Amino acid sequence: MSSTVVTGIGELVTCDGTGADGLGVQADAAVVVEDGFVAWLGPQAAAPAADRRLDVGGRAVLPGFVDSHAHLVFAGDRGDEFAARMAGTPYDGGGIGVSVAATRAATDDELRALLAARVAEMRAQGTTTVEVKSGYGLTVEDEVRALRIARELTTETTFLGAHVVPAEYAADRAAYVDLVTGPMLEAVTPYARWVDVFCEPHSAHAFTAEEARAVLTAGRAAGLGLRVHGNQLGPGPGVQLAVELGAASVDHCTFLSAADVDALADAAGTTVATLLPGVEFSTRSPYPDAAALLRAGVGIALATDCNPGTCYSSSMPFVIALAVREMGLTPGQAVYAATAGSARSLRRDDIGRLAVGARADLTVLDAPSHVHLSYRAGVPIARTLELEA
Ligand code: NIG
Ligand code: FE
Repeated sequence: MSSTVVTGIGELVTCDGTGADGLGVQADAAVVVEDGFVAWLGPQAAAPAADRRLDVGGRAVLPGFVDSHAHLVFAGDRGDEFAARMAGTPYDGGGIGVSVAATRAATDDELRALLAARVAEMRAQGTTTVEVKSGYGLTVEDEVRALRIARELTTETTFLGAHVVPAEYAADRAAYVDLVTGPMLEAVTPYARWVDVFCEPHSAHAFTAEEARAVLTAGRAAGLGLRVHGNQLGPGPGVQLAVELGAASVDHCTFLSAADVDALADAAGTTVATLLPGVEFSTRSPYPDAAALLRAGVGIALATDCNPGTCYSSSMPFVIALAVREMGLTPGQAVYAATAGSARSLRRDDIGRLAVGARADLTVLDAPSHVHLSYRAGVPIARTLELEA
């Protein structure tokens, strides 16, 4: 067993639910880490001895960001689609097919290298847990391959065979839903923790409420947890379906009715609304009002949705800054949503907060306070704290 005491923490943000914004802020703190877990935390003056000492020189330390929504297993590039969108072409999900073709054509090692580079890019910006979805394979073999490769880097793997109806099934959507809920689901289950579906009546490529229900109930019967892409392109049934089925998370929530907000508030202990402001940024969509969701009692999370179409950013600090500037959150509320909130959306209590027994996933800022994540937007001040020399 080896231990390290991290000292010189000017501001320790524990996200343990206490204090303003639930941030549990402590000044002049220390953390003792033993074999990857927090063994002690508190005032530096009272810190016990450890095998090693690492001084962070007055910097702020917080739980590593939990990026609970990302699509990182893909090949190819859609920069031209982004440029066209900025010139006025709306997003409708049709570009997903471009990434599917490029991903199918890539080798295992190419996909593995692309995924590893994206996860490294996230870590370099303070993310310590990432959820990774499939969804650019859309054949049994290609979906299994994406999840097998993702599983090498994270336990938070999500089967998104119901991302779009692939071109070869355009004339027979029902046959594709049968494939996703049958042989594809059976083949991916050993590699997946979650099942997800793009439920969106405003895209001909995505799935209707009834198709999404079939996907989610089959996934649940196979032992997978439920997540939903909902209410992204316009008002829709995704939120209500997620709440009805007890999904852990419904993601995007860009267009919510008053009834959707009420349903999410009633389901706050079960279903988290995961907000993805990088998508509103990259698709020029209106930002949902996160502050109003909090006032209504909705549990919220923040994530990147890093993907080649609607948000090719891996940066949780960028997401936090957008949530503060554009969604009405305070800097503290945004940090909480990006850590403890996202952990909740993954039904995890060992990450996203710092307490004795939690994983010692620490992120350090080249700054005295968590406020600087949004105050110094665009400046690379966050990185994971590597405890091993
Ligand atoms: O979360 N909306 C569906 N899926 C992704 C976009 C995928 C893509 O355009 O490649 C999203 O926004
Ligand atoms: Fe997504």
